[in-house]
Amino acid sequence: MPGETNALNNLFGGELLARMDRAASISAKRHSEEIVVTSSVNHVSFGKAIPIGTTVTIEAKVSRAFTTSMEVYIDVWIDDDKGEKIKANEAIYTFVAVDKNGRPTKIDKILPETEQEKKRYDAALRRKQLSLVLAGKLKADDATELKALFS
Ligand SMILES: CC(C)(COP(=O)(O)OP(=O)(O)OC[C@H]1O[C@@H](n2cnc3c(N)ncnc32)[C@H](O)[C@@H]1OP(=O)(O)O)[C@@H](O)C(=O)NCCC(=O)NCCS
Repeated sequence: MPGETNALNNLFGGELLARMDRAASISAKRHSEEIVVTSSVNHVSFGKAIPIGTTVTIEAKVSRAFTTSMEVYIDVWIDDDKGEKIKANEAIYTFVAVDKNGRPTKIDKILPETEQEKKRYDAALRRKQLSLVLAGKLKADDATELKALFS
């Protein structure tokens, strides 16, 4: 809609980030059944511009649940001229389940079923370690899964 677009009349990136954050938070809340907060945005790719008036579908799924945090994978689809859904963007957010005082609280694990769910689940630990290293919360030497990629 007007007001949500950039100078090229495409969806403004920040609008999409907020929408993805909302969809991802619903997914994280449904899985954990707790209050959830966005802890980090690990990856965003704006692969395709989204022109004004386009129908946008945002699909968010918990790809892996750790102790208190969850990785949420977001796929963004747009309808083309024929009404077919085409992939426009994707993003990966991390949410943390918290109690009423904002303290991290334990959550249930998930069991991936489809090939895509298994692939995303397996890679999630590496992404968590990378995110923690970049945030200065984990020493690169301790990021064992991540290091294994390069050995
Ligand atoms: C998210 C928050 C509760 C985490 O608190 P914390 O003191 O860092 O807690 P911890 O160090 O115990 O980390 C909690 C979990 O988050 C994970 N985590 C923390 N920072 C992370 C990062 N940058 N990337 C990935 N995971 C991260 C930890 O690994 C841990 O996961 P685990 O329990 O599943 O192993 C706290 O930082 C917070 O309240 N942030 C503000 C959230 C907010 O307001 N979001 C809205 C955006 S404006």
